[in-house]
Amino acid sequence: MNSRRSFLQNTLLGGLAAGTADFWAKALPAFEKPDKNAFPVVIATWAPNLKANAAAWEILSKGGYALDAVEAGVHVPEADPRDTSVGYGGFPDRDGHVTLDACIMDERGMAGSVSFLEHIMHPISVARRVMEKTPHVMLVGEGALQFALSEGFKKENLLTDVARKALEEWKVTSKYKPIINVERHDTIGMVAIDMQQRIAGACTTSGAAFKMHGRVGDSPIIGAGMFVDNEVGGAASTGLGEMVLRTLGSFLVVEEMRRGVHPQKAAEIAVKRIVRKYPKQSEEAQVGFIAMDKRGRHGGYAIHPGFSFVVYQREENKVYESAGFLAK
Ligand code: GLY
Repeated sequence: MNSRRSFLQNTLLGGLAAGTADFWAKALPAFEKPDKNAFPVVIATWAPNLKANAAAWEILSKGGYALDAVEAGVHVPEADPRDTSVGYGGFPDRDGHVTLDACIMDERGMAGSVSFLEHIMHPISVARRVMEKTPHVMLVGEGALQFALSEGFKKENLLTDVARKALEEWKVTSKYKPIINVERHDTIGMVAIDMQQRIAGACTTSGAAFKMHGRVGDSPIIGAGMFVDNEVGGAASTGLGEMVLRTLGSFLVVEEMRRGVHPQKAAEIAVKRIVRKYPKQSEEAQVGFIAMDKRGRHGGYAIHPGFSFVVYQREENKVYESAGFLAK
């Protein structure tokens, strides 16, 4: 290599290397040494999910793996017939089908997802198998069901009498208007950090009640319903998925935290982005985000008041009431 060319190349590479180091030093103040007592920690959407948090804590507090914790945590609402927005007992689509969406991510940035899946009580576990046992990230519908059955999952009827009746009542007017803060629960999103500071996330839902057959929301879409980056933290969403899908909300929250923004502020930025872009729809629909960074700091925010989230940390499982951007 002639000396001028090698000088230019070395200078460029040197500049880039120095610039890169400088960039990371400035951009990532959140990577100061974390407080060891902050771990383990788990955060989830909605107050009734204290029980889901407790199931995750059971694993985390014994030194268990964050991925196992989020899977076990979201199993709680998935199996609860009283929770009409997740798993068994979830309200069906307008044709009477309970169709489920779920996704999961681990500390390596690996991801698995299922969507438009029927008859399987724990879609989150099928999503985990997609991640661990296939070369793919996402399986949908009949293919996802076939995969689940081949993995030994049981085919079940997930439509409860309560949900069937609710559909019959809905058919009287057939007015599609997702309710804000449905009985103070909705999709569960969960992010956990274990004692080894591995971060994992999970998200699972039966989607919007009485949706069109075939509709898929934000929850199974990596970066929309949930996103985790072990270098930064994780985020998850709840509420009307269409608005989160259009803004890739959970990814946005994590990217804001990557720039050093506190999780609370990062969740606020994602909510404000939605309201700014869709002001009319925002008046009538709810979206909420939870966020947690690598240091175990956390936050939550929503378009409207009424959203809550739960955090289990330092032996305490606590409900937080989120503020709403459009509070009257
Ligand atoms: N956030 C759940 C859904 O819209 O499907």
